[in-house]
Amino acid sequence: MKNVLIIGAKGQLGRDCLDVFKDVSGLNGVDLPEADLSDPGVCRDVLDRLQPEIIVNCAAYTAVDACETDKSCWKANAELPGNLADWAAENGAFLAHISTDYIFSGDKPLFEVLLETEPPAPVSEYGRSKLAGEQSVMERCANSAILRTAWLYGGSGKNFLKTMLRLTLQNPGKELKVVSDQFGSPTWSYTLARQIRAVAERRAGGIFHASSEEYCSWYDLACRFLGKLGVEHHFVPCTSEEFPSPTKRPTNSILENAHLKALGMNLFKGWEDELSDFVEKHGESVMAEVQGK
Ligand SMILES: NC(=O)c1ccc[n+]([C@@H]2O[C@H](COP(=O)([O-])OP(=O)(O)OC[C@H]3O[C@@H](n4cnc5c(N)ncnc54)[C@H](OP(=O)(O)O)[C@@H]3O)[C@@H](O)[C@H]2O)c1
Repeated sequence: MKNVLIIGAKGQLGRDCLDVFKDVSGLNGVDLPEADLSDPGVCRDVLDRLQPEIIVNCAAYTAVDACETDKSCWKANAELPGNLADWAAENGAFLAHISTDYIFSGDKPLFEVLLETEPPAPVSEYGRSKLAGEQSVMERCANSAILRTAWLYGGSGKNFLKTMLRLTLQNPGKELKVVSDQFGSPTWSYTLARQIRAVAERRAGGIFHASSEEYCSWYDLACRFLGKLGVEHHFVPCTSEEFPSPTKRPTNSILENAHLKALGMNLFKGWEDELSDFVEKHGESVMAEVQGK
């Protein structure tokens, strides 16, 4: 494998992809503000110059609540993947595009899993824009894989785990409510990056669910994370209704990695084991970051 291009290389997943592909000759990363690949002309210029054989698209407008009012999310989430798909199809490159559990309504009965064949039915602007991105990739580039992930966390960037740690350290002894009626599979971005590489090396095409095994609630995840760090906490379970948000969030986000398993390629362990590995590798640096050290 050579000439790999990571789009959204400064993001949470993009940084782990740069790490996972670091031995590949001709590895490049692009991101805002240097290059806005939602602009078709910019996208073509960048790809013509770098001539990637593998394109990994981690770029997205990921501020879910902001998407409800900022329609520019469609540029990054829907138009950008289409630009990449056009170039990849014309130039024989393989495109690995990252998508989300939010393309589903989340209304499937608990605790039935969501297979790749489940009909999409997004209930948020973020989900609709990401689904449009998937459709552009599928329609315009046959040589492509879509990896849908969920509840992503990693060593760099913002995520739920860092938020819960920050709130706990800033409010010692205080009870903090955490939603306990939404269920999903927390996924470490580093394992997802390894999974993307495995798919790209094999040029395995189609839609793949790509999240940790087993599932939990946000409340379970927060308790387990701070427990593993040895930080005292006072989380209290609450319902989604008690935690108003401008965006309807899926109740059931439990993705099943059926396609990866059918190909013997699933790299994900149970979410608790993944979380332990994450804490072992990044626990100290995350503590230092959150404490402002
Ligand atoms: N985070 C989650 O919980 C989650 C869950 C399920 C699926 N996903 C999906 O996983 C993927 C990676 O997510 P992440 O958490 O790593 O996201 P992230 O940290 O927000 O990174 C996305 C990166 O893309 C960049 N970007 C946005 N628009 C761009 C454009 N027009 N041209 C070039 N770069 C652009 C962003 O730059 P700026 O920061 O400057 O905007 C950012 O560096 C995304 O496809 C996301 O939809 C994420």
